[in-house]
Amino acid sequence: MNIELTYQSSIAEYLHIDAEQVSLYWKGRVALYTMLKAMGVGPGAEVVLPAFTCVVVPNAILYLGAIPVYVDINPDTLCCDVEQIEQALSPKTKVILIQNMLGLSVEVSEIIALAKAHGIYTIEDCTHGFGGKHQGVFNGLRSDASFFSSQWNKPFSTGIGGMLVVNNRDLLESVNLVHSNLIKPSAKDQWILFVLIWARTYLLKGVTYWTFLRMYRWLSKKGLVVGSSSASELEGIHMPKDYVKGMSKVQCRAGIKALGTLDQVILQRKKAGISVHDWLTNQGKTTVPSEHLAQHAFLKYPMLVRNREFFMQQAEKERIPLGDWFISPLHPVLDSLEPWGLEVSDFPNAVYTSKHIVNLPLDLPVHRLINFLELYKNEII
Ligand SMILES: Cc1ncc(COP(=O)(O)O)c(C=O)c1O
Repeated sequence: MNIELTYQSSIAEYLHIDAEQVSLYWKGRVALYTMLKAMGVGPGAEVVLPAFTCVVVPNAILYLGAIPVYVDINPDTLCCDVEQIEQALSPKTKVILIQNMLGLSVEVSEIIALAKAHGIYTIEDCTHGFGGKHQGVFNGLRSDASFFSSQWNKPFSTGIGGMLVVNNRDLLESVNLVHSNLIKPSAKDQWILFVLIWARTYLLKGVTYWTFLRMYRWLSKKGLVVGSSSASELEGIHMPKDYVKGMSKVQCRAGIKALGTLDQVILQRKKAGISVHDWLTNQGKTTVPSEHLAQHAFLKYPMLVRNREFFMQQAEKERIPLGDWFISPLHPVLDSLEPWGLEVSDFPNAVYTSKHIVNLPLDLPVHRLINFLELYKNEII
């Protein structure tokens, strides 16, 4: 069996689904783009999505000429409530995107029931949530389709990478058609990615973390390494050249290896997440609602702080690699969101959360994290 098929089958086995339901992509965003296209999303169609996401999500919609219709988040769950989504529907709505936020899924069945009642497709954005469960079911298995990311920092990583799971088998043929037209990653792409995966494994430790991170972000913005996002994806709504790329062998190899330790990684993150949750609850601080904790596979633990810049600086001094994801309703764009059709004054919860959020890493000894939080607890909201 070739390496792509082996990886595809390993993912299917992990999720207890059929290999034909799984397809592989250069990045998660390409999996989303493929799915939208296969669902017939095109000019004039509306796609409902959270106003608190990564900019590459509305990009995938806009590249197809469709219209993103944003919905504010519930500040307690960082996800969208079904009532809010219902208000955003129109006769032009073709798809609802249900986002799993840092591993947390909320009201998935209710949103799917709403969509079905209106003849609308659902796609779960499970880029943060591979391996986690919601109400006893693996994230991503209830909607018509779901996409995952195995980019740096995810519980299992292939450097960069994405997968699509199609649950509605009526859509398989059209997905396969779009997939068969993907561009193959070049030898150069694969070589650079191989070196980055190696460097991250062996160099990205302790004191080198911040230096490496800054260097990587700078190089990827300049287009000098295969990065998470190119400058053109962050600056506007025009599809970059070679965007629709398939997955490479280098990624498949890294994925197969990483899947082997995933259960252990998730268990550790869950334990650390619960310790942090208990500590924050005892301090009377804002937490993820406890009823969602049991099966939630934390990617990071979201927390709000008064002054993020100060808090991040202190974390760096204490060598705690805090995440700064979702510093904008369309992360990481800090300039006008007009090109993406998002008017910030309409989404107060997303704006407030993006001003105050930090994400706690759960892959380091939890006592170090809690000692740090103790030192700066007056900063936590
Ligand atoms: C919510 C969300 N959706 C989609 C993506 C895109 O994933 P990828 O970088 O694999 O394209 C990300 C990136 O992490 C994300 O945070």
